[in-house]
Amino acid sequence: MNRDELVAAARDAANNAYSPYSSFRVGAVVVADDGRVYTGANIENAAYPSSNCGEATAIHTAVADGVRKIDTLAVACIDAQDVRGAYPCGRCRQIMAEFGVEEVIVAGAEGSEIREHTLDELLPHRFTFGAAAG
Ligand code: THU
Repeated sequence: MNRDELVAAARDAANNAYSPYSSFRVGAVVVADDGRVYTGANIENAAYPSSNCGEATAIHTAVADGVRKIDTLAVACIDAQDVRGAYPCGRCRQIMAEFGVEEVIVAGAEGSEIREHTLDELLPHRFTFGAAAG
């Protein structure tokens, strides 16, 4: 899948968001190292901290299916008109790091700018268990 196809899939996935508290819909798509593709959306909870981000849903769905290495993640916040309001939170960046995400594509609503980053740009000097600090 190319960049635009990934963003389209992430935007589609955002339609499945369960976000009655924020009304902010987030969809994500991940591509595993063997080419398998998984999607996810944010899932909120009346007890707010029990909520799950769209990126985490997609990554953990892949991992639960046996994936251990993810190459690319695309996230789309379809209620963000500006891409600057669509960037992954810190927890999701750390979850991406755990499963080796290298490329992160960020998009807002249809027609918004699409940006591409490396995870190194988004989460430099990250924690990795037992590794020497970089
Ligand atoms: N959210 C995500 O799904 N991903 C992020 O990286 C940041 C925020 C969700 C959580 C919550 O359901 C809503 O967006 C508003 O914070």
